[in-house]
Amino acid sequence: MTEYATLTVNGKTIELPVTEGKEGEKGIDIRRLRQETGYITFDPGFANTGSCKSTITYMDGEKGILRYRGIPIEELAEHSSFVETSYLLINGELPTRQKLNRTSVQLNDHSLIHEDMQNFYQNFPRASHPMGILSAMINALRSFYPELMTTDEGYEQTALRLLSKVRTMATMAYKISRGHKVEYPRPDYTYCANFLHMMFNTPVKPYIVRKELVKALNVFWILHADHEQNCSTSVVRSVGSARTNIYASISAGVSALWGDLHGGANQAVVQMLTEIYEQGLSVEKVVARAKDKKDPFRLMGFGHRVYKTYDPRAKILKKYVHEVLDKLNIDDPLLDIALELEEIAINDEYFQKYNLYPNVDFYSGILLKAMQIPTNMFTVMFAIGRLPGWIAQWRENLIDPEQRLVRPRQIYTGYNHRPYIPIDERVKDSEQW
Ligand code: ACO
Repeated sequence: MTEYATLTVNGKTIELPVTEGKEGEKGIDIRRLRQETGYITFDPGFANTGSCKSTITYMDGEKGILRYRGIPIEELAEHSSFVETSYLLINGELPTRQKLNRTSVQLNDHSLIHEDMQNFYQNFPRASHPMGILSAMINALRSFYPELMTTDEGYEQTALRLLSKVRTMATMAYKISRGHKVEYPRPDYTYCANFLHMMFNTPVKPYIVRKELVKALNVFWILHADHEQNCSTSVVRSVGSARTNIYASISAGVSALWGDLHGGANQAVVQMLTEIYEQGLSVEKVVARAKDKKDPFRLMGFGHRVYKTYDPRAKILKKYVHEVLDKLNIDDPLLDIALELEEIAINDEYFQKYNLYPNVDFYSGILLKAMQIPTNMFTVMFAIGRLPGWIAQWRENLIDPEQRLVRPRQIYTGYNHRPYIPIDERVKDSEQW
């Protein structure tokens, strides 16, 4: 039986149907609201707004649950690879061995990028942030590979092309920023091993790919692969809702991810920890600063719009950071500072009151640092990991018959109607100030 929510506005009562998801979460369907009452809803940041129905990712922010296509993140991190998890997100099911092998072959086939694209890279100023370069270059893919997904076959090809080429493009940006020769992918390496090879191999110093780092990179990317309607994914869906091509939509998602409050937090965390270490700051004082409402400083890597408990991804990363550092014999003082910060913050009344716990970005930077990834590439690492999620969400939005062009309303608070004043009759600057 359909459940209804009753709403009375301006003396008129209407019944709004309640829609329920597979895990019991409920939403009031307000699609008839404006038409029947003349009112709209007001929800800055859309914290109470469900923008779509989705079969891709489930998360419970109160219980700290995250599942891709029903499978818990903990199981995927333990047993899966990034390529297999990408297949799961994009196609809805885990692949058979045969399909997984075929996917690996196709990823290899798509791993080169058009040589002309290198000219673009050469012309960016050396100090450019790699996220800006990545966003621009993903958009440029539309010109180099104009054939787009219009059929299921086209979808698979475009998805694989994006997954493979974006990885190559990211390593190219790094090599060129250092003035080094671009390294080509190797057909005998897996997806993650190839990334490390293209990043760090040089003609004079062959890079030995360590299996511990390959596993850690797989886990890092699996944990970032999707997170339902987060800021960048909502951007990808919004841009896609205008029937914009997938490259441009994902390029916009990369830009959204760049921000410090979103994916840029992993870089901001390591910068914060480095500052504490290099300047010998007291961890207590840093926590006190984060609590001071007059100070805009926030404890980076803490807090989340949806998780009101420990982010399950941060839990897994914390474990991996310890394991990888142990195996590689790395003694990173930033890890000790992070552990101390966490200990003080989670036992602090302020952090408890606001339910602020470590999020995925809190420990991820230390893991990336152990892989020798430079700090300004951290958010690029996040972006490569988030690709399968963006691809799956873009497609789901496109084929969902309930979806329309994204076009929110507003509550106007500016001037009421007023006349245009000819320039000579306007108040002079000297009189104005
Ligand atoms: N340090 C100190 N105080 C915080 C923090 C923090 N890290 N996070 C939230 N708060 C406080 C805010 O000051 C605010 O207090 P107020 O209500 O008294 O003004 C309250 O908690 C709620 O904060 P909002 O910003 O309204 O919460 P929202 O859900 O919009 O923000 C966010 C979530 C942006 C992640 C926030 O916790 C934050 O800025 N964290 C630091 C940046 C970060 O780590 N971002 C990565 C998030 S994960 C990801 O995107 C991949």
